[in-house]
Amino acid sequence: MKLSAFLSNLIIHFLLAPALIGTTYLYLYPLFQGCGFPEPRSQTPEPATCQAPSSPQSLLTALQAPFQSREGSKAPFRLLALADPQLEGDTSLPPHEDETPFPSLVRLRHEIAEHGFSRVPHAVRVETSRFWTEDISNAIRTYRKKLDLWGNDLYLAHVYRSVRWWADPTHVAVLGDLLGSQWIGDEEFTSRSGRFWGRVFKGGQKIEFGDISGGGSEVMGEAKWKRKIMALAGNHDIGYAGDVDDARIGRFEEAFGSVNYEATFRLNETAGEDVPELRILVLNSMILDEPAKDTRLLDDTREYLNRKLYFELPAPETSTVLLTHIPLYKEAGICVDGPFFDYFDEAYGGGIKEQNHLSQAMSERILDGVIGPERDRAAVILNGHDHSGCHVYHSTQRMLDIEALMAREAGESPGDTWDATRFESAAAQATIANKSLTGVEEVTVRSMMGSYGGNAGLLSAWWDAEAKRWRFEYAHCMCGVQHIWWAVHVLDLVLVALGILWVGVSAVELVRDDGPRVSREKKTS
Ligand SMILES: *[C@@H]1O[C@H](CO)[C@@H](O)[C@H](O)[C@H]1NC(C)=O
Ligand SMILES: *[C@@H]1O[C@H](CO)[C@@H](O)[C@H](O)[C@H]1NC(C)=O
Repeated sequence: MKLSAFLSNLIIHFLLAPALIGTTYLYLYPLFQGCGFPEPRSQTPEPATCQAPSSPQSLLTALQAPFQSREGSKAPFRLLALADPQLEGDTSLPPHEDETPFPSLVRLRHEIAEHGFSRVPHAVRVETSRFWTEDISNAIRTYRKKLDLWGNDLYLAHVYRSVRWWADPTHVAVLGDLLGSQWIGDEEFTSRSGRFWGRVFKGGQKIEFGDISGGGSEVMGEAKWKRKIMALAGNHDIGYAGDVDDARIGRFEEAFGSVNYEATFRLNETAGEDVPELRILVLNSMILDEPAKDTRLLDDTREYLNRKLYFELPAPETSTVLLTHIPLYKEAGICVDGPFFDYFDEAYGGGIKEQNHLSQAMSERILDGVIGPERDRAAVILNGHDHSGCHVYHSTQRMLDIEALMAREAGESPGDTWDATRFESAAAQATIANKSLTGVEEVTVRSMMGSYGGNAGLLSAWWDAEAKRWRFEYAHCMCGVQHIWWAVHVLDLVLVALGILWVGVSAVELVRDDGPRVSREKKTS
């Protein structure tokens, strides 16, 4: 068999179909999985009525309905929430003595320059063996790691681009741990934040001071906010309370925007007096618990929380979407991460070194705050940190009993007033429907990293005019582990390379086959 025939067989029978299917799936995965923002629905579903279409006119409208309703029934507020991209960088590369990939060659040159040519045979012997045993394997590891980092950036970019294109969010948030380490130098920090904006979230824009300082509300769905990215601070960006200082916060805010702010949005309605509003509250939870290295920063953050959740309250119908990095307290066993605290040694300040959840007292302070003094405001909390993700319902008494009220007035935590369960079991046990209880949904968004399947969270909010209340619903969309992304692109690359080879080989064979025939023809003529 000719080489060209072998190549075309290989391409057509073995590579083309998998490459086409893989590529189509990878680039349209949100469509194939039916991902999308949950659509508004009535909380108390009416029994479905089935009426026969009575005239051709209504038959036509009935046929068109599924297509027309899609646009009209979209939720007005659609938040794309991504968690923990954790961009790695040079700290995860194997160490090098020099910047060069082959330090033994440099050492050899130094040796000769210093000691003259008499040492050459010995130096060559030593450095040659080190070249083979150390340099080559280090160089391979370094370039493999660099390729990994590059591929990882493109994979994350693919997740963001695909879901954003397909689902059309009105807002985008990245819920902290944007970078992989808080202990990197300024140069590396600049390089990674450059990759964040230039490669992974290309086209996204940082929240500027002018975007959030206005005080008023903006219309939901404006093009401007579709490009903005609310990039939150996580422990790998600025450190935990025992670590955070002004310098770390300063460089973070310069690159990614403020760590604490609120932005309020209203429905695009002009009719009526009170247009329903929704408030996004971004809270830096890295420095809310004690002990902290910088107590002034701790006081400032707590003061911000108190102001936004207890003193400067929006209208009662206004709901809060609280975005933060660390999940709220819940007992072990509800989510993958249970409660956990670790502290620095006294010699290093004794502050918080690591935490899985906020403390119970701080969590209850937040929960009591978001449901408001009437204890019935609708709110939802989104965070990251626990890479596996978790969906929880925090419930509490709608009315506080007298003991709990007195404890609150004395400034103590009422204690045990909040109860967390997995969202599905809260729904199944009718905790959510229980009229004597109220509650808050908390979604810990699963990480967007490849090893967690490239997850994207989709939170919808819509106004329930009947109940005069905002409604929330969460869904998610998974791309699949990064190996799928790699496999599809490598397959495509191989296919293209073989295609080019086939064209070349066919051309050569054509010339070679034609050659003798032409000369034969010449002879016979
Ligand atoms: C708000 O509604 C008006 C009138 O229906 C429409 O022209 C405009 O595009 C809407 N704005 C947004 C941001 O959706
Ligand atoms: C509602 O919750 C209260 C307090 O937890 C409980 O005592 C009561 O039985 C619940 N009601 C229903 C109908 O589940």
